[in-house]
Amino acid sequence: MTDQTRRQLTSSILAGAGLCALSGMAIRSNAIASDRRAEFLDVLNQIYDVSKMLSTGKVSQLEWQSEISRLVALADYREFKSAIDFDKAAASLRFAEKGVATSRVTLPMAHGLSPTIYTKLFAVGKGRAVIPHGHKGMCSGHLILDGRMRSRQYDRIETGENSWRVRPVHDAIEGAGDFSTISDDASNVHWFVAEEDSWTLDFIMAPANTGADWTIQNLDMAAAIMLGEDLLDVPTIGVADALQKYG
Ligand SMILES: [Fe+2]
Repeated sequence: MTDQTRRQLTSSILAGAGLCALSGMAIRSNAIASDRRAEFLDVLNQIYDVSKMLSTGKVSQLEWQSEISRLVALADYREFKSAIDFDKAAASLRFAEKGVATSRVTLPMAHGLSPTIYTKLFAVGKGRAVIPHGHKGMCSGHLILDGRMRSRQYDRIETGENSWRVRPVHDAIEGAGDFSTISDDASNVHWFVAEEDSWTLDFIMAPANTGADWTIQNLDMAAAIMLGEDLLDVPTIGVADALQKYG
């Protein structure tokens, strides 16, 4: 992170702290069951601020990943659940027969600013999956709100029309409160398999930079060819086939 970027982030953090007193008025209609409501709203403001900086190119995608991970860790995942009225949202979102069901959810806008990032609730029934896929031109963060999932991530090394070369970087069983991110810079390909009924809150920047192109490519991980230690050549796959095979 450059000194200038660090100063910008610091000033946005200080600005957020200074405006905390105003935030209660701005979001009175949003119920957050927390005795540290102002602190939580300040975390949200900082997420919005760094996301706006990403959209205008003032921070890199890698810096956004680092900063949003730090910010999400400052809050309790149950505060995010409360902020989106999770029980009600989850009850109205039926699991998909294959893959995931999603719905847009809204977090408070503590300073009355438009969010620079949009949020979605993902419902993944036991045995279902966020099918293996990679991205170009976007960033996202994934906070597990409930359940247990196997989370795998890969770095995108090279992309072709028929296959992507990727390197495994993460494979773990994760539960409520665990958070992961993707971007063009790191951990670009990901794959979640629900070991029990699970829900995630996704923070999505698509495109990462305003006006840029972005795409999603599904990958046939089971058909990957090992090219060497920690390097896989993975065929691309269409969404219908991918859902049938992995969803
Ligand atoms: Fe994704």
